[in-house]
Amino acid sequence: MITGASRGLGRAIAVALADAGADVALAARSKAALEETAHLAARAGRRAVVAPTDVARYAEVDTLVQRTVRELGRLDIVVNNSGVARVAPLVEMTPEDWRFMLDVNLTGVFNGCRAAAPHLIAQKSGKVINVASVLGQVGLPGYTIYGATKGGIIALTRALGVEWARHNVQVNAIAPGWFATDMTHEAFANPAINERLTRDVPARRIGRPEEIGPLAVYLASSSSDFMTGQTLFLDGGHSAA
Ligand SMILES: NC(=O)c1ccc[n+]([C@@H]2O[C@H](COP(=O)([O-])OP(=O)(O)OC[C@H]3O[C@@H](n4cnc5c(N)ncnc54)[C@H](OP(=O)(O)O)[C@@H]3O)[C@@H](O)[C@H]2O)c1
Repeated sequence: MITGASRGLGRAIAVALADAGADVALAARSKAALEETAHLAARAGRRAVVAPTDVARYAEVDTLVQRTVRELGRLDIVVNNSGVARVAPLVEMTPEDWRFMLDVNLTGVFNGCRAAAPHLIAQKSGKVINVASVLGQVGLPGYTIYGATKGGIIALTRALGVEWARHNVQVNAIAPGWFATDMTHEAFANPAINERLTRDVPARRIGRPEEIGPLAVYLASSSSDFMTGQTLFLDGGHSAA
């Protein structure tokens, strides 16, 4: 089950998991874009369920989990990837901006974990992969609320990894640095902003969406069974600098 699978990093993760042999339940709000991702999964020979879902609404995420179990037969891997970013100095942000980003980015991750919990705990196995951000660890002007939601994901991942270790359910996070997706397109199309943001990255480039797939496959596989509660930074060295 992958949220935010309609484009960007979520689509790349869904395709990588399908290529590695997983049937996929694809969630986001735009049905047409999810169908395109389903088409890519079908090309890999896997079944795909298209499940329009607003991750900020618990009832919809619960329905997504039920559909996944009913239509694919089981639930082994939960990727909580949906996210939104509004960028502005805090003084210009409104309480509505705060609620909006918190509801999708952090409550969305809670909803995915909570709705999947009975299934993963009962079967005594499972993999949860939350998508955080380098900005959950590193400060950047304009990203205070976004960074707070992503820091929350890192803390949630750590605590839930410890809580569910006894159930043989591993909970880890990927913290991407800058990647070329719709979320960042506008910023990187501006040469001055591009130059400023790339300066923070020792690799001096931004990531390609397909570079996240192998790490998601690793965290979804038994190769990572002894790893839990961790956040792995995939960021060209950004967080290490
Ligand atoms: N790109 C980067 O540089 C970068 C860096 C660090 C972390 N991230 C994180 O990586 C994740 C994916 O981002 P991206 O770069 O792929 O961005 P993107 O291209 O804007 O994709 C965001 C995804 O989230 C979905 N989404 C948004 N609101 C939703 C909601 N209420 N319910 C369900 N799905 C929702 C979108 O689908 P619909 O609009 O169809 O609902 C879309 O599939 C996000 O969590 C983001 O914060 C990205």
